[in-house]
Amino acid sequence: MNNFLEEFKRRVSQHQIKIAVIGLGYVGLPLAIEFAKKGFLVFGIDLDKDRVKGLKRKISYITDVSNADLRKVIEKNKFLVGTNFSVLDQIDVVFICVPTPLKRKYYPDISFIKEAIKNISGNIKEHTLIILESTTYPGTTEEVILPMLKKKGLKDFYLCFSPERIDPGNKRFTLTNIPKIVAGIDEFSVSLATLVYKTIIDKVIPVSSCRVAEMVKLLENTFRLVNIAMIDELAMMAKKMNIDIWEVIGAAKTKPFGFMPFYPGPGVGGHCIPKDPLYLYWKAKKLGFNSCFIRLASRIINRMPKYIVERLDEILKEKDLSLDKAKILIMGVTYKKDIKDLRKSPVLDIIEILKNKGASVFYHDPLIPYLKFNHINLRSIDLKKTNLAKFDCTVITTDHTNIDYDFLLKNSSLIFDTRNVYKDIKTDKVIRL
Ligand SMILES: NC(=O)c1ccc[n+]([C@@H]2O[C@H](COP(=O)([O-])OP(=O)(O)OC[C@H]3O[C@@H](n4cnc5c(N)ncnc54)[C@H](O)[C@@H]3O)[C@@H](O)[C@H]2O)c1
Repeated sequence: MNNFLEEFKRRVSQHQIKIAVIGLGYVGLPLAIEFAKKGFLVFGIDLDKDRVKGLKRKISYITDVSNADLRKVIEKNKFLVGTNFSVLDQIDVVFICVPTPLKRKYYPDISFIKEAIKNISGNIKEHTLIILESTTYPGTTEEVILPMLKKKGLKDFYLCFSPERIDPGNKRFTLTNIPKIVAGIDEFSVSLATLVYKTIIDKVIPVSSCRVAEMVKLLENTFRLVNIAMIDELAMMAKKMNIDIWEVIGAAKTKPFGFMPFYPGPGVGGHCIPKDPLYLYWKAKKLGFNSCFIRLASRIINRMPKYIVERLDEILKEKDLSLDKAKILIMGVTYKKDIKDLRKSPVLDIIEILKNKGASVFYHDPLIPYLKFNHINLRSIDLKKTNLAKFDCTVITTDHTNIDYDFLLKNSSLIFDTRNVYKDIKTDKVIRL
């Protein structure tokens, strides 16, 4: 073992270990590129042929990976992409970064992980280090993956879980400066994973077991879900009391301890916060424990799009307008600002509810030129003076940075601002959440 560790250490320091990343999405692609940039040979494997084709053409579909970086590592032959798992027989470290969605209401769907494990186990050589980065419920690594690998007859392998904590679009906290939590089925696995991660990440934090590491990620996202749901509820309550919630939060956050600001909005989307806590909810329920917080927070968050439409209805009525005859401009459709991701975006729900109520809905989003979902087909309109004049109300749903909000204000008749972009502007034209 010691010889193996010393040799592994030497090969890591000389960038000789070969890496594979399974699943080249928001998590897998940036990880693969970061290792390739450091000079490691990285094989990226994805079942999505279109994604693979795009990558081979050196086109990135992920905001945090630039085409320039992608081109550089491909041209240096440091990043090879494909759909074939047979390359794994020459690999030292395999990262699994596949989706972990929900099936039905709150059941974890770990079938992508299982599929990846099946593909890996038939192809890897002895002494391969396998690291799961997909978010999942506590127990997945030890209770599902480990037995699967053993059942396949694999003996000499190392296995870790390390949650990915990136925040796509965040320029300040990135893959390399967010501390990395690592756990393994044994200390040796953790030592190997730590050596590998330290080549690209400033700080690696080992924890005592995979289930702890799995729960760390779920704690972080449950914390966000519960706090966002709480502030959404307080925003709805404050409205009834005729109190400006944004002013309340602004004043509360002057307290130098014991308070952390969260902001209300039109709902929560993406492939993390709406579903990760439900993985925990499900696991707890299996053990006979009912998490009231997660259930309640999910319910509040899911109701926000409906609440936004109800508020819009009231706002229009005050202007003697009705929703079914109104022309509405939705500003921003992605689930958060400055990224191209539409997954579980609450804005799609808002558009659908508005359309079902008979409103004429248009949208603008600099990152999404076309929208196609649930029989709805829309094209992002240009933000021109003549266009803006047509709308009865503009709803700011996603506060992308690259928007001329002064121009929007000047040329719109009425704005419902769910993101507080007009925080310093006092005018009857802007109504805040
Ligand atoms: N998106 C985020 O901000 C974020 C942040 C932290 C953690 N996570 C977690 O990371 C995991 C991946 O999320 P993502 O956003 O990168 O997903 P994604 O959908 O963007 O990418 C996953 C990729 O895996 C591919 N894939 C699926 N099954 C495969 C298989 N068996 N073999 C090879 N490729 C396969 C898909 O084609 C897809 O390209 C999830 O568990 C998610 O919860 C996501």
